[in-house]
Amino acid sequence: MASSSSSPFKDDVLKGKVALITGGGSGIGFGISTHFGAHGAAVAIMGRRRQVLDDAVADLRSKGILAIGLEGDVRKQEDAARVVETTIKHFGKLDILVNGAAGNFLSSPEDLSPNGFRTVLDIDSVGTYTMCHEALKYLKKGGQGKDPSAAGLILNISATLHYTASWYQIHVSAAKAAVDSITRSLALEWGTDYDIRVNGIAPGPIEGTPGLRKLNPEEMKSKIQEYMPLYKTGERWDIAMAALYLASDAGKYVNGTTMVVDGGLWLSRPRHIPKQDVKALSRAVETKSRAVGLPTSKL
Ligand code: COA
Repeated sequence: MASSSSSPFKDDVLKGKVALITGGGSGIGFGISTHFGAHGAAVAIMGRRRQVLDDAVADLRSKGILAIGLEGDVRKQEDAARVVETTIKHFGKLDILVNGAAGNFLSSPEDLSPNGFRTVLDIDSVGTYTMCHEALKYLKKGGQGKDPSAAGLILNISATLHYTASWYQIHVSAAKAAVDSITRSLALEWGTDYDIRVNGIAPGPIEGTPGLRKLNPEEMKSKIQEYMPLYKTGERWDIAMAALYLASDAGKYVNGTTMVVDGGLWLSRPRHIPKQDVKALSRAVETKSRAVGLPTSKL
């Protein structure tokens, strides 16, 4: 039996559930696959690369997890439909859809062709919508193989890049803004009509992921950590635990939110004034304002 000793959740929080995880063979997606499996779910992982899927499935099975790897590209509606159908054929039902498949690379806007921009939107935004669309009939209460009283749920992996603006990430920022919008719209519409909860997770930099390797070259690492509120990068475990919370009954009243799991990074700013100088500077300003009889706000 798979061990989840490193998790604060009980081993059986997803017992009997079937999860389909796009991008589930590597990085954050693989972390979610592993921990969902370790907590009782059977997992179908979808990806474009056969070898990555085979290696991931072998690893999951070695941990006692029921797993299959399904080749497909979320940009192709026929692939999305086939992968959902195959999951149903193999495991009999679908309870959880995780949209983790994503594309990314650093590029300044002047070097990014409209096709490059579109490619990332096609994978992240349209791909997420396509998977949700194809999975809906199985996620509904009474969908094939499902308990008539239990609806499925959706988790969309997003980012924090678009909360402000991020250098060289115009394409991904636009794509993830759309993903967050899809999360809210489906939470409203499918939450109301079908009791399907739809939530997102916005990870920060996570060790051992293609995202970190592509976006934060090793030489930038210490610079980034300098500004981070928690002064460290995250682990795949951190995202998997957030996913477990949202996918289990612990999150049963959470719908339409995108949970930020980034150690506070998106809030971080360089510290322009050293801490030891703040008190002196601030006091000096107030003393000056009193001396000339002005409120501080007029200075
Ligand atoms: N800088 C600028 N443009 C780029 C680029 C880069 N580093 N990489 C790709 N593009 C452009 C291409 O030039 C092309 O546009 P064009 O036809 O106008 O020249 C367009 O993007 C499509 O590229 P292509 O290589 O055909 O796409 P693909 O479908 O094979 O790959 C990517 C998709 C580009 C997103 C690829 O990085 C990928 O497959 N990523 C998946 C894994 C990943 O990124 N994980 C990280 C998640 S955080």
